[in-house]
Amino acid sequence: MLVLGIESSCDETGLALYDTARGLLAHAVHSQTDLHEAYGGVVPELASRDHIRRIVPLLRGVLAEAGAAMKDIGAVAYTAGPGLAGALLAGAGFAEALALALKVPAVPVHHLEGHLLSPLLSAAPPRFPFVALLVSGGHTQLMRVSGAGHYALLGETLDDAAGEAFDKTAKLLGLGYPGGPALARMAEFGDATAYPLPRPLLRSGDLNFSFAGLKTAVLTQARKLGPNVCEQARADLAASTQAAIVDVLTAKALAALKATGLKQLVVAGGVSANQALRAALDAGAGAIGAEVFYPEMALCTDNGAMIAFAGAQRLTAAVTARQPAGRFGVKPRWALTEV
Ligand code: KG4
Ligand code: ZN
Repeated sequence: MLVLGIESSCDETGLALYDTARGLLAHAVHSQTDLHEAYGGVVPELASRDHIRRIVPLLRGVLAEAGAAMKDIGAVAYTAGPGLAGALLAGAGFAEALALALKVPAVPVHHLEGHLLSPLLSAAPPRFPFVALLVSGGHTQLMRVSGAGHYALLGETLDDAAGEAFDKTAKLLGLGYPGGPALARMAEFGDATAYPLPRPLLRSGDLNFSFAGLKTAVLTQARKLGPNVCEQARADLAASTQAAIVDVLTAKALAALKATGLKQLVVAGGVSANQALRAALDAGAGAIGAEVFYPEMALCTDNGAMIAFAGAQRLTAAVTARQPAGRFGVKPRWALTEV
């Protein structure tokens, strides 16, 4: 079956076609970075309007790339939450209307389930059960995943998400939006031991995270350096910040493997693109005989492929969160353990 996936929860419009027999046939993403850059963050109303503008051209693009026609689509999966309400509604409204017109099922998908299952699209995928570290702009969670749709929360952030910590410290360092990739680039030229930043909850004995204090510590350090700070000091602070985030994520992910006795770790969400994090996790897992799985680089941040794939899993496993036709709704706040 050919499943169309539509992602519109934040500032990326992603569409993809996943075939349950042949795999991923096409995917395309339009990033709204340029649109929001001037404001230093995502402007929800502008995001919603842009999704509406982009969906149809992107759909035409993926259909052409896959050599498929509208009539070949067997189901339409879309992100129903969590995310920005207006942005979600743009995708959900289009998906439900298209499914109704084509007389095929519409499948609401949890955005984090999309991220979490995205490494299964890789050439060498993990097998259930595994531990998942979800690190995105809005979430930081450790899950025990025993199958598609079977998620047990092991720990999560008590305040800011890891991606948020990257974004906010990047902003403090004048690196603009989106901050994560910019901070990571700058960190490459810095000394990660230059500034002693806190590793919050590192020894808390549980699997929870906290990143709000780190941001305050970076702010204090940035103030000490003053407005005329040199490039090297900024790079050192970027590297020190990244190291603090990576240390905590790595320690807790390894602790989760130990606590569950599992040997496979899946890392997904935008921050899984971070090379320093990947290096630390690979080394740490290697030392205890465990293996780490990541999504393909292009599928780390928001995309339609992960939504099409998660939708296909839900359809084939018949564990749909489907709503009666014509009565769709989105869930801007939605826990993954509730799917
Ligand atoms: O999963 P995602 O695309 O959107 C959400 O669901 O939130 O994640 C976006 C987050 C942002 O906070 C962004 O700064 C971060 O992922 N990010 C990175 C990198 N690439 C994206 N953080 C650190 N290093 C990166 N290379
Ligand atoms: Zn995401």
